[in-house]
Amino acid sequence: GGGGGYTALGGLHVDSPDVAYGGDHITARYEYRSTAAAVDAETGRVTATPRSTVYHFRTGTRVRRTGLLQVGWGGANGSTLTGAIVASRSNLTWASRSQADHKPNYKGSLTQAATVRVGLDADGAAVTVPLRDVLPMGTPEALALGGWDISGASLADAADRAGVFEPDLRRQLRPLTDGMVPMRGAYDPAFIADNQAPRADHVMPAEWTKQQRLDALREDIVAFKAANDVEFVVVVWTANSERYAEERPGLNDTADALLAAIARDEAEVSPSTLYAVAAILEGCPFINGSPQNTLVAGAVDLAIRSGVAVVGDDFKSGQTKMKSVLVDYLIGCGVKVKTMVTYNHLGNNDMYQLTDGVMWKPKSAAKSRVIDDIVDGNGLLYPPGTARPDHVVVVKYVPFLGDSKRDVSEYTSETFMDAHYTSVMHNTCLDSALCAPLILDLALLAELLTRIDFTVGNAAPDADGAPYQPLHPVLSVLSFYMKIPRTPPGEPIVNSLARQRAAVENLLRATMYITEPIG
Ligand code: NAI
Repeated sequence: GGGGGYTALGGLHVDSPDVAYGGDHITARYEYRSTAAAVDAETGRVTATPRSTVYHFRTGTRVRRTGLLQVGWGGANGSTLTGAIVASRSNLTWASRSQADHKPNYKGSLTQAATVRVGLDADGAAVTVPLRDVLPMGTPEALALGGWDISGASLADAADRAGVFEPDLRRQLRPLTDGMVPMRGAYDPAFIADNQAPRADHVMPAEWTKQQRLDALREDIVAFKAANDVEFVVVVWTANSERYAEERPGLNDTADALLAAIARDEAEVSPSTLYAVAAILEGCPFINGSPQNTLVAGAVDLAIRSGVAVVGDDFKSGQTKMKSVLVDYLIGCGVKVKTMVTYNHLGNNDMYQLTDGVMWKPKSAAKSRVIDDIVDGNGLLYPPGTARPDHVVVVKYVPFLGDSKRDVSEYTSETFMDAHYTSVMHNTCLDSALCAPLILDLALLAELLTRIDFTVGNAAPDADGAPYQPLHPVLSVLSFYMKIPRTPPGEPIVNSLARQRAAVENLLRATMYITEPIG
């Protein structure tokens, strides 16, 4: 005791008159304190008015039997996440050059490997619990796994092709994953680089219309649910980056326009949008892990109309994640970042695909927008109308390195009396080891967040208050995982990693009425 801290592993129970544990629900009354800021247009003086809003949260406690369908299941990410879960289910151990007895684990996952601070114990020591213990959450091992790919390789062959896991582990996984074969993909060579054509040996017939493809994808989801006896499915796009689809009124600006465009076989409906629409129509949350505009306005409209969760865009895994921490730190300390120049090089299939300039465009745009709100938040260093930091992102394909991503970043800033302050950083990591835990978290959290509903106001719904409503279908609380977070129409984007993490944690804490918010 007396300071320090430790993690308690026996679960969490909140002892408060504001929290009730019912048969299938936990309900919590939560007082949210915030501040209204009114700016006087003439003087610029801000009047801050603290206010308090009462929320009632209700969280379903029964974790649904959940399936994870990955689009691009046979890729580096898909096969890596699958291999980890299968290895964990079977308690495999494996040897590497440096260690004889590796055990499966989920390091890098917020739900499985991070903790949340609860409070102080009687001796004044900080007590934390695993994030997965705050509310009833599914386990990785219980997820039914499946997906689509345009390559017919089994998950055993896919893992060999990806070259992420050690050979000893791949050898042991083979009998367990050889029978896992993706469902055939909706492939459209107009949206993906030509260099992927040799891989596309497992696709829906070329003559099929978009409507036929959509219907087939919906049938795939239904069949997967039945075959695996799951009640709830999350669909994650972890296939290659596509080029942007054209966005235009009457084509994809509303749900009805998009459905009509599919029905009349419009060329500009991308495969990824077909998967998204299929997922939404089947009531499955859809997560877009790549930067292209899969979630066109019509798809978001459809999701909102159907009350089905969507999350986007582009996993924030490596360099961009580091960037959103480092720039937050520099600007947060009053240092003016002037240039950010970053280089990535690696040799996996996704990088190979991005050597096509058209496919690189969405990725480039996503990578360069990851600090916008941090810069905008400091009008002393960056007054409106003045230059933003110069931001250059270079990526190169280096086949020998495979999935091992290298990134080198140089940040040059101005500090006190315009002294130059330059920081250089180098990172090396398997790209898929960065990304797989994010896909895992997204699946488990999407299942959890769609069990939470809430109401605003003092009266609880059972005391004639407003009825419970689900969280907004555009799940901006999962911005932590995304390079360009999608938010409900009109809501601001948060890029700072610390604020994004605080959002996840604060929501989980609020549903359990743990009063001290963090961040
Ligand atoms: P990968 O190239 O190894 O795997 C992608 C898979 O998608 C391939 O097996 C391919 O055959 C399949 N595919 C392509 N088009 C398809 C379609 N229309 N339908 C079904 N399957 C299709 O790539 P990797 O490394 O697994 O990355 C996957 C995605 O995740 C990429 O878009 C990448 O930009 C995104 N991402 C990855 C990050 C990371 O690995 N650290 C970070 C951020 C985003």
